Amino acid sequence: MQNIDWGSLPFGYYPTNYNIRCYYRNGEWGELECCSETTINIHMAATCLHYGQEAFEGLKAHRGADGKVRIFRLDENAKRLQSSCDGICMPRFPMEKFEEAIIKCVQLNKEFIPTYESGASLYLRPLIIGTGARVGVKPADEYLFLVFATPVGPYFKGGFMANPYVITRKYDRSAPLGTGVYKVGGNYAASLRAHVEACHGGQYACEFYLDAKEKKYIDEAGAANFFGVKNNTYITPQSTSILPSITNKSLMQIAETLGMKVERRPVAEEELATFEEAGACGTAAVISPISRIDDPETGKSYTFGDGKPGPWCEKLYKKLRGIQTGTEPDEFGWNTFVEI
Ligand code: PLP
Ligand code: COI
Repeated sequence: MQNIDWGSLPFGYYPTNYNIRCYYRNGEWGELECCSETTINIHMAATCLHYGQEAFEGLKAHRGADGKVRIFRLDENAKRLQSSCDGICMPRFPMEKFEEAIIKCVQLNKEFIPTYESGASLYLRPLIIGTGARVGVKPADEYLFLVFATPVGPYFKGGFMANPYVITRKYDRSAPLGTGVYKVGGNYAASLRAHVEACHGGQYACEFYLDAKEKKYIDEAGAANFFGVKNNTYITPQSTSILPSITNKSLMQIAETLGMKVERRPVAEEELATFEEAGACGTAAVISPISRIDDPETGKSYTFGDGKPGPWCEKLYKKLRGIQTGTEPDEFGWNTFVEI
């Protein structure tokens, strides 16, 4: 195991030993290849460079309290990557190949899997890019799948603590019939300006999106889904312009097992005033409780609790982390164990 201060890791890139690659040529995906290079040599007219033909995923491997290594909901990430491929006309990467690549990547970088006690994890970043040369706007004929691993700490500094968000009305991240439901690079390019402006000055942790068409309903909390809690009910937005979060899907099931009601439906901004607790959820964010959401253009401000994570956020977080690290039973069979 590497001599790293696991507990101080930020959510950033830390070099590891190997990545896994696979090439699509002549209409088919080839064999998985193990690689120690960190760079990619591609054609200057590759479609990923000009037309954003790129999709990615994010998932984590956790070292459990029992020392075993578990990957959370690997199959869901494999399926979502296929959906993203459909969304931007790339060939689907086969499910079994995806699972094999991720497991291999964890095994080859096993000394970078953080300790259980640190709360950090090994983040896996699979991606597919169009590498075939094109000048006209059309899909490439060649692609590269790649997955790298990097040990990460909390997405927000301080870990599990409540953060303030700011509604962005000036910029949209995705359109109702656009690519928001896919995990493609273009959505993140579209979000950068909103993110940089929201964080400027250090007052807010992240930007908060309303729906692009009416600016009335809640879409997402930066690179995470939103949920609110009131009357023992877990409420999360239904929208055609947000990423279907695997963490959110899991939390909806966990919430039911904790005795909560679950509602997935359009959530208007005014309803924020009625929530007892609110949070952002995602692989990187896990659960990040939200202390306050400001809407500077209308002057409205919505506050949740007393600035500390609320009781439901605590319970949901504990259960989710517990399943991921083996301190709670994996009753839904979400983990894939990795032999190391
Ligand atoms: N929404 C956006 C825009 C994201 O980038 C992410 C991160 O993957 C999520 C939501 C959360 O999704 P998941 O829980 O599958 O990581
Ligand atoms: C994730 O939660 O895995 C993400 O991809 C969010 C962000 C780092 C892009």
